[in-house]
Amino acid sequence: MLTSAQIQARIRQLASVLKQECFTESERPLLVCTLKGAAPFFHDLCLALQQLSQSYDLEFVRVSSYHGTSSTGTVSSSDGSELIATPLHNRTVILCEDIVDTGTTLEWLVPQLHAKGAASVHVCTLLDKRLPEEKKKYTAAYTGFSIPNHFIVGYGLDYNEWYRDTSDIFVLGKTGIIACDRHYEKLKEELS
Ligand code: IMP
Ligand code: MG
Repeated sequence: MLTSAQIQARIRQLASVLKQECFTESERPLLVCTLKGAAPFFHDLCLALQQLSQSYDLEFVRVSSYHGTSSTGTVSSSDGSELIATPLHNRTVILCEDIVDTGTTLEWLVPQLHAKGAASVHVCTLLDKRLPEEKKKYTAAYTGFSIPNHFIVGYGLDYNEWYRDTSDIFVLGKTGIIACDRHYEKLKEELS
C-alpha cells in the first residue's frame, strides 16, 4: 500500500508542520509513542525533528484494542501498570499513533492524558482509515495518509504480532493470514 520512500517523505513533512504548529521556543513538548505499533513511526518522526533542530522529551504508553484483524471495542493498558510515568502537568503533548481506525483507542487515551494535567494533546497519526463518519469516534489533528478500509500490516503494524518488521506497508491478504496462523498452530502442536 505504501513504500518506505513514501512513508519517509511524508514523515519529513509532518515534522515540519508539527514544528510550526506545536513547538515554541521556550518549551520542549513531550512526544508520546503508543506501543507497540507506532514505534517505527515514532523513531523516524523523532529523527526528522532532530534534522529540524527541535528539542523534545520522550514517553511511551502501551495500549491495545485489537485482536487478530478486528477491534475488540475496548481499550486496555496492556501490562496493567501506570499509564505514563512522566508528570504531564502543563505539558504540551504530541501523541503519536500508528493508525486511527474506529478511534476507540484515542477516545479513551486522550482524556486520560488531559486528566493527568496536560495543557494540550495534539494527536499525530501516520495512518487514518476511511470509515463512515458514524463509526469514527476520534479524528486526529495530524494525519500522514488517509487509507481505504483494509487490514494492513508492516512498519510496526501487526497481525497477531507478525509483519511488524518491514519498512513498507502492505494490505494483509489470505496468504499472509494463513502463513501466520500455521506458524502458531505448529507452535501449539510442538508444545502439546
Ligand atoms: P482503533 O482504536 O479502532 O482506532 O484502532 C487503533 C489501533 O488498532 C491501532 O493503534 C492499531 O494498533 C490497531 N489497528 C487498527 N487497524 C489496524 C490495521 O489495519 N492493522 C493493524 N493494526 C490495526
Ligand atoms: Mg496502536
